[in-house]
Amino acid sequence: MYRSRLDQNLGKQTLDYVSSISDDSEIAFYDIIGSQAHAIMLYENKIITKLEIKKILQALEKLKKEKFQNNSSAEDIHELIETLVIKKTGVKVGGKMHTARSRNDQVALDLRMKIRDDINILCKCILDTIETLVTLSEKHTDTPVPLYTHLQQAQIGTFSHYLLAYSDALFRDLDRLYAVYGRVNESPLGAGPIGGTSIPIDRNSTARMLGFKGLVENSIDATSSRDVVAEYVSAVTILMTNLSRISEDLIIWSTSEFSFVELSDQFSSPSSVMPQKKNPDVLELTRGKTARVIGNLVSVLTTVKGLASGYGRDLQEIKPSVWSTSKIAISALLVINAMFATLKVNKEKMKKVANSGYLTALDVAEELVKEGLPFRTTHKIVGHLVQAAYESKKSLSQLTLAEINKSLKEKDIDSKKILKIITSINAESSLKNRTSQGSSGTSEQKRMVSNRKTKVNMYQTGVAKRSNEVISSLDSLSKKVKSLV
Ligand code: ARG
Repeated sequence: MYRSRLDQNLGKQTLDYVSSISDDSEIAFYDIIGSQAHAIMLYENKIITKLEIKKILQALEKLKKEKFQNNSSAEDIHELIETLVIKKTGVKVGGKMHTARSRNDQVALDLRMKIRDDINILCKCILDTIETLVTLSEKHTDTPVPLYTHLQQAQIGTFSHYLLAYSDALFRDLDRLYAVYGRVNESPLGAGPIGGTSIPIDRNSTARMLGFKGLVENSIDATSSRDVVAEYVSAVTILMTNLSRISEDLIIWSTSEFSFVELSDQFSSPSSVMPQKKNPDVLELTRGKTARVIGNLVSVLTTVKGLASGYGRDLQEIKPSVWSTSKIAISALLVINAMFATLKVNKEKMKKVANSGYLTALDVAEELVKEGLPFRTTHKIVGHLVQAAYESKKSLSQLTLAEINKSLKEKDIDSKKILKIITSINAESSLKNRTSQGSSGTSEQKRMVSNRKTKVNMYQTGVAKRSNEVISSLDSLSKKVKSLV
């Protein structure tokens, strides 16, 4: 339809190569309502007549219900929709719809509307997941569990501490998306191909009708830039890396060797050959899909990095990366949330492991610090005690006075005092005495659970408000359309 100066049509193979029609199904709806807002603005500014707007809107309303065929000769959804409107209304009417706009501002608009919705969905999914994590952590504020560094036993912790750590990482993901939203929620419509238009349009009016908070004002910027898209994909990629790390923890904890947790059967996969298997494929796929999302980010960034200002068709290639990113992240969150909600926590096993090994070594050293010794000295003393206990296959608390005396190289501490300390320290006392802010200590866990619950509520209000703002603007637009058809 656009081939005014071009004599020949694209061959089938070339059309397939350049067409984005199959990727555009994700933005067809946005393109239609964007076109309605644009057409209404043209009417309200006396650029088209009442009869013309009526016919254009009627045609667009019908298209909302249509399934678009991939086999049209249009190069993209924008061309297809305009072609269909012209087919329904005639070129004298439908041919006016594209007045004062271009596919360049159109596609930028559609992308922003799609990402805006995806962010609202993602924020809701993240909040639901955080809520599940906080609810589960409330039940485990005094469930002792080993904490690991280098995947070697480090300190006694509580299971809630891990879950709250995941929540806090997800809060940051939420916050990143929350911030990007403000930059996404600006309308590029009316920027035209690159330099604007001489037709007296009202860009603020279309922006308002479509629920945008403002404009991407500079028309070169509005049509050329995709940094906001890159920012969105980047925030989601970071989110996915967090989900991937959480998945890795659960994979380790659900091994027979750890058995800290057991995934519900609904989230486990069998083996085709080994009947006993209960595999964490869902979690492995979250790790695997994270790689795909990272690939999407690299793809978006490498597309934009070398483009001259002004629309270039390369930008078309960004869209599938965005769709794939949103789809993966939304489903990953839905699955991980449901998995945590049905997770079996093996409290007894966690407790058993937390009480074995030398997880209280630092607690013992800190008790000695409280006796006035320099930390470096206590580090040495306890290191020797651990070595002695390890060699005689004992726990620290099982060491005898004689063994303590033998291991002590430092003479400035009474071995009886050490005996008293090592026999009085266990997982429970360690968690009771650990009170530093954000630590594993039970009191801190309880405080953080309640604090994070409040935080969830605050964000829930904010996210719902944003979603409702979009819904109510689009409702008003829909009412306006109805009043004009
Ligand atoms: N299909 C194109 C895209 O997705 C739409 C914009 C085309 N603009 C152009 N001047 N060729 O980016």
